[in-house]
Amino acid sequence: MDLMEKITNLAKRRGFVFAGSEIYGGLANSWDYGPLGVELKKNIKDEWWNRFVRQRTDMVGIDAALVMSPKVWEASGHVKQFADPLVECKKCHERFRADSLESLGTGSIDGKCPSCGGELGEARQFNLLFKTFLGATEDAQSQAYLRGELAQGMFVDFPAVAQTMRRRLPFGIAAQGRVFRNEITPGNFIFRTREFDLMEFEYFVREVEWEKHFEYWLEEMHAWLAHCGVKKEHYYVKDIEDGERAHYSKRTIDIEYDYPFGRKELYGLAYRTDFDLKNHMEASGRDMRYTDPETSEKFLPHVIEPTFGLDRTVLVAMLEAYHEDEAPTAEEGEKEVRVVMKFPYWMAPYKAAVLPLSKKEELAKIAEPLYAELRKAFMCDYDETQSIGKRYRRQDEIGTPFCITLDFETINDNAVTVRDRDTMAQERIQIADVKDYILKKLAV
Ligand code: GAP
Repeated sequence: MDLMEKITNLAKRRGFVFAGSEIYGGLANSWDYGPLGVELKKNIKDEWWNRFVRQRTDMVGIDAALVMSPKVWEASGHVKQFADPLVECKKCHERFRADSLESLGTGSIDGKCPSCGGELGEARQFNLLFKTFLGATEDAQSQAYLRGELAQGMFVDFPAVAQTMRRRLPFGIAAQGRVFRNEITPGNFIFRTREFDLMEFEYFVREVEWEKHFEYWLEEMHAWLAHCGVKKEHYYVKDIEDGERAHYSKRTIDIEYDYPFGRKELYGLAYRTDFDLKNHMEASGRDMRYTDPETSEKFLPHVIEPTFGLDRTVLVAMLEAYHEDEAPTAEEGEKEVRVVMKFPYWMAPYKAAVLPLSKKEELAKIAEPLYAELRKAFMCDYDETQSIGKRYRRQDEIGTPFCITLDFETINDNAVTVRDRDTMAQERIQIADVKDYILKKLAV
């Protein structure tokens, strides 16, 4: 079984990610986050927001509408240029992204269909914006688009944010949320889907300073990846050549990760110049310029845009966390393979699990109040079924850093055993000290 298969199985078995609409046979490449997946994803989202918005004085957040005026997407260039090259097989009519055929080495755009060997047609541009209709009629007047990126909300709200928050350049506007793209060939689990979550910010700067800020944000992206536990040798920085970049970008760097299915994009960093603000100013007739509070000079700021795909972050976090090692079994001297998700503590869905050795009332009387106390401080699980070995395995597989076991000694000594996920070392701790002990460990 390759790593991707192991991760997908674990995700399903342990409640991280399920196939979407499964009871109806599924909807191709749609995925639902289960109870543990949603905690993992939320921890990443919150950590990103704290790090890049709340802890900084030069960043503010917004949450814009998912459906914006269609004029936004015309002015931004997405209606005309947000497209991938598509080729269709003349025999089976399956559609492919022309660039993915080339990179897979399965054939060129003039070659044969990878599915049936039929002849492939000419490449044509396929627009990725999802169309929808507003109101009761479905005609050209009521046509709108689901947002294809978060960025446009931050551009159209730029004058309102600059005015209400009285920020001075350089400063950024950040957002997190769902975007939609009518991808030709989604796939590889949550890597490429038609709806996904983004976390990104537009950082507004003076034109002369763009390079300095670009380099700064690249370093910050490296630091974020390290914080997420992503090893440096697993990802690469690629300068995107002229002609390959998105229509709005003068310089783009892709951070590419070595997924089990190949080296592909994880994040992007783009220098969007004043392209978007200029286009919105022309199209709307509204003044999008920034006014320097000292000189009263008015000008359009330039923009650096670091963008972080949230679902790809979840996927990479799971790939990085996955470990197999050996653990002792109940049989003297025997060992078994243990699967352990070594998430950074801040990312783990549960921080601890309370495991009374038996369901007996004497233990439950102590375990339940402890569980209630810990739940107020961090996400905590409670499990009193099956053997303790099986319970440890389950918590290891979902990445719980600390298992707290109550045994029959607990009734006499008011102490529990705290087991460390990574080292499997166990320590005896007084119940009254457990919360602080774990909080201290989590803070490292
Ligand atoms: N505002 C810039 C922007 O949206 P992008 O490179 O088109 O840039 C940003 O997308 C990020 O979104 C990518 O770096 C990737 O992490 C993620 N992403 C793109 N397409 C995706 C898809 N179909 N499914 C999941 N994530 C995707």
